[in-house]
Amino acid sequence: MKTRYAIETENLRIYYGENEVIKGINLKIPQNTVFALMGPSGCGKSTLLRAFNRLLELNKDARVEGKVMIFGKNIYADDVNPIDVRREVGMVFQYPNPFPHLTIYDNVAIGLKLNHLVRSKKEMDERVRWALEKSSLWNEVKDRLEDYPSSLSGGQKQRLVIARALALKPKILLMDEPTANIDPMGTKNIESLLFELKKDYTIVLVTHEPAQAARVSDYVGFLYLGKLVEVGPTREIFEKPRHELTEKYVTGILV
Ligand SMILES: Nc1ncnc2c1ncn2[C@@H]1O[C@H](COP(=O)(O)OP(=O)(O)O)[C@@H](O)[C@H]1O
Ligand SMILES: [Mg+2]
Repeated sequence: MKTRYAIETENLRIYYGENEVIKGINLKIPQNTVFALMGPSGCGKSTLLRAFNRLLELNKDARVEGKVMIFGKNIYADDVNPIDVRREVGMVFQYPNPFPHLTIYDNVAIGLKLNHLVRSKKEMDERVRWALEKSSLWNEVKDRLEDYPSSLSGGQKQRLVIARALALKPKILLMDEPTANIDPMGTKNIESLLFELKKDYTIVLVTHEPAQAARVSDYVGFLYLGKLVEVGPTREIFEKPRHELTEKYVTGILV
């Protein structure tokens, strides 16, 4: 049986003005896995991630060459609407960024409201609850849905933002260093959540911590100076790296 890939890239190149920062990447990400994209700061992880749902083009200097296929369809083809792509491929950022002036409930509901995706209050209530359960936050917030997110911890805010992304029922979730700014307990909660989420979603997790990639991912790609140095099952990459640079990175010599 042919494996269906959630994401495939073909000779992907990305430039900011004249500066080429992603230098010809061919990558295949299988469905229902956690794929970690690891590498030192500045190597192009966020740039590559943003090309996977066309967020990158909100930056006028950025230019993409090559193909990105989401479930076999090139998202850079002329007939594709980037809004649809972003609904199918959700994004969670490094800083937990719930809207401070919206209640916890409305933070989850906002995308559904703006896109007119539900028809009744009942349907909205159900979807908000569903998304908060999926992000393992429901039990902690069910009695204070009308509070503002300022009352939540960093880790809870990040799970709220994950619920907001999940409410739109994406197929893929991109996460750019989602635990970089939250405490160890919050980090642990989000890492366990990934194990749950991959049953239904494909997750691409950017991290600059090899230890996190080792803990949570099924596959890992090591990005260095805009090139994919090595990619494969996480265990193999950590136990038998083929490339000297990878070995240096996973053992902490290269930072
Ligand atoms: N908006 C931008 N305009 C110009 N250059 C950028 C921009 N964003 C990132 N870069 C450059 O692209 C390279 C990759 O950055 P980035 O994707 O943010 O790396 P990482 O996420 O791995 O830290 C860096 O050299 C960075 O300076
Ligand atoms: Mg980054």
